[in-house]
Amino acid sequence: MIKLIAGNWKMFKGPTDTLAFFDSFEAPDGVDVVLCPPFVSLEAAVGEEWPIYAQNVHWSDEGAFTGEVSARMLVELGVQGTLVGHSERRLYFGETDDTVRLRAEAALAAGLGVIACVGETEAERETGETEAVLRRQVEVLPHNDSLVIAYEPVWAIGTGKTATPAMAEDAHAFIKSLHATRVLYGGSVKPENAAELLSQPSIDGALVGGASLDAASFSSLCQIAASLS
Ligand code: 13P
Repeated sequence: MIKLIAGNWKMFKGPTDTLAFFDSFEAPDGVDVVLCPPFVSLEAAVGEEWPIYAQNVHWSDEGAFTGEVSARMLVELGVQGTLVGHSERRLYFGETDDTVRLRAEAALAAGLGVIACVGETEAERETGETEAVLRRQVEVLPHNDSLVIAYEPVWAIGTGKTATPAMAEDAHAFIKSLHATRVLYGGSVKPENAAELLSQPSIDGALVGGASLDAASFSSLCQIAASLS
């Protein structure tokens, strides 16, 4: 199956840096590519040839929700999908399983694709709660062909620590037993470790933070994924 490589730029790259990235980014055939710039850079990015996703979406069409953006607004701009439930949203902005579900449902209803993020913290893994946490986070997600799950163990995000391929494979297989969809791995994915992770049978692609900011390293990740598809 063709792999999906998604870049989550988090709070990096305004419109100028976004356009500079696309000047040098290239990906071969044989890989699906998605980029998730910050809201202010979406308009610059949708003019390029790659599917562009937002990093979050509100569940109402409009209303008194300062700082939020609706699915309808994203569609109007030409955005094709959105992340929901990233662990940084859960950790710093009070995102819950319920609000993740609401955001995913609203995005799908508006015709957007969704990458829904799940993953356990280090403490949860150490106390043997990984499967219970994943079950709780996955079970609220709608079943829809346009929804992809990203497994991002919180302890592996931006830390340089990566789940071993076997650890990631176990978690992916468990998630797929609950929800039959593509499952991406996220957490310190870079060109040096991508082939080993992406070769696991239940790893359908990657959600990449730091290594997606540099056009050369993101291009190289896309090439690795295409060679394994
Ligand atoms: P890093 O690749 O920087 O660890 O980030 C992973 C992530 O959070 C992608 O959403």
